[in-house]
Amino acid sequence: MRLYRAKNYEDMSRKAANIISAQVIMKPDCVLGLATGSTPIGTYKQLIEWYDKGDLDFSEVTTVNLDEYKGLPKENDQSYYYFMHENLFNHINLQKGRSFLPDGTEPDSEKACSNYNAVIRQVGGIDLQLLGIGRNGHIGFNEPDDHFSLETHCVDLTPSTIDANKRFFEKEEDVPRQAYTMGIKTIMQAKKVLLVASGEDKAKALYDSFYGPVTPSVPASILQYHKNVYVVADEAALSMIP
Ligand code: PGA
Repeated sequence: MRLYRAKNYEDMSRKAANIISAQVIMKPDCVLGLATGSTPIGTYKQLIEWYDKGDLDFSEVTTVNLDEYKGLPKENDQSYYYFMHENLFNHINLQKGRSFLPDGTEPDSEKACSNYNAVIRQVGGIDLQLLGIGRNGHIGFNEPDDHFSLETHCVDLTPSTIDANKRFFEKEEDVPRQAYTMGIKTIMQAKKVLLVASGEDKAKALYDSFYGPVTPSVPASILQYHKNVYVVADEAALSMIP
């Protein structure tokens, strides 16, 4: 694991965007695995700024997102489809049909997940996977569990995740209870992984993930076994790491 220490959120965002830029510049037809959540928003803003300046070209890039709520239509402003278009896709020159997310509107979980696994295989796997980290150590919606999950699957969100995400919804009851997510196996097959973390509420998860035992009860801890992991975190998130 290579750790980049950032001063604050802005610095973290710029450093993470630099790593993504390097990937796009070195391999213009790369496959980027992308993430939602508040942490990557600054990274996406920075990428858009560099795209606007003419320093980045996404015309050959393919993207696959980590996860999507089950049951939310694309036009729902809390769907991850909507989030990605608002925060990135509408502002850069990604080609239509080159960005993929699990289909949250497919009620048949098995079908939705096997379709998404097929998509990831068809695009040739992921060159660089961007990840946030949950306060409970989740990556994507791979929640703490008794075993590491494999490929794309349907998950029941934990109370901690529902609680963390309720700020985006009018009422807690509106937070979907299930999601489709890439599994740990899919994430571990990415050639490179870039994990971003900001804020003190991520400090314990970050510490447990990279300095504690590898255990499914801290899903991100599996990344200790990945050969190319880049972690960009700000001082607050690093407060438990010497
Ligand atoms: P956040 O979410 O960036 O909104 O904190 C990260 C995550 O839960 O993976």
